[in-house]
Amino acid sequence: MAFPQTRMRRLRATAGLRGLFRENEVRASDLILPLFVAEASTDAGPIESLPGVWRLTLAGAVEEARLAAEQGIGAVMLFGIPAEKDEQGSAAWDAEGVVQLAVAAIKSEVPGLIVNTDVCLCEYTTHGHCGVVTADGAVENDATLELLARVAVSHARAGADLVAPSDMMDGRVGSIRAELDAEGFVDTPILAYSAKFASAFYGPFREAAGSAPAFGDRRAYQMDPANGREAVREALLDQEEGADALIVKPALAYGDLIAAVKSAAGIPVVAYNVSGEYAMVKAAAAAGYLDERATVLEILTSLRRAGAVATITYHAKDAARWLAEEN
Ligand code: PBG
Repeated sequence: MAFPQTRMRRLRATAGLRGLFRENEVRASDLILPLFVAEASTDAGPIESLPGVWRLTLAGAVEEARLAAEQGIGAVMLFGIPAEKDEQGSAAWDAEGVVQLAVAAIKSEVPGLIVNTDVCLCEYTTHGHCGVVTADGAVENDATLELLARVAVSHARAGADLVAPSDMMDGRVGSIRAELDAEGFVDTPILAYSAKFASAFYGPFREAAGSAPAFGDRRAYQMDPANGREAVREALLDQEEGADALIVKPALAYGDLIAAVKSAAGIPVVAYNVSGEYAMVKAAAAAGYLDERATVLEILTSLRRAGAVATITYHAKDAARWLAEEN
């Protein structure tokens, strides 16, 4: 006896029907490729814990950006590795700093590509923290805001399309917005790392950028992975302070928060598929335990399904190639 209900399998039985009714699709144009740019050419080279990712010279970064644009990748996100670090992280706002030079070079050589910059101090400070450190080793929130605003303005002045503060200080979106406006960059959007957790998944990034904290950890400013409602509050505060789009980071273990932030906030939500998440897939694929291509496309699709409009991923170039092959 047949049941009157729809049988789900009817719509799955042929490829054409699966395609017709697919709810979410990954496109190269919504991938954001992170690039590490080293000021000293002696710092350039492969990153052991991120197979296939390099610390690039300035010329190398322009070349990578060009290749990414040719593949239809939507944007790059720049991280700087300065030749010299100091207590305050002053290389971060140097008009001739490595990120500022890289932004200008990429915008002039690859004008169609969107260039985001990571706004933080940890890659530039000797202590590796994301802000000003006091004599007793605490990170001082309010003293850091002015420095972050300086960094953001220097990136905008160099031509960055979006600035992305990743420090997690309270009030930094408002302070950066005010300073950008005061300096005439009223149209430069802020992509705020709003829900950024104190995560073990950033390990390979810190090797790449030499930014592991010299003492303590980041739990005084990054969020506790146990707290979801707090992530939504952070996102809403950043939105109120003037953020134009929000990042949830890491991505894989935080799909619930991509969905929650998306439904609570009225602005676009971006997922950051971080270094440790990339490294896990790479290691498993190298050992023959996972099919890298299928795994990566499944991950990226699932982040779309969770609600991300775009994903920052070290897999962007591979994914763009695989997507092109499928079409
Ligand atoms: C800088 C910053 C970090 C990442 C992005 N911006 C490191 C950190 O917070 O320790 C991590 C990205 C990744 O793991 O891919 N604050």
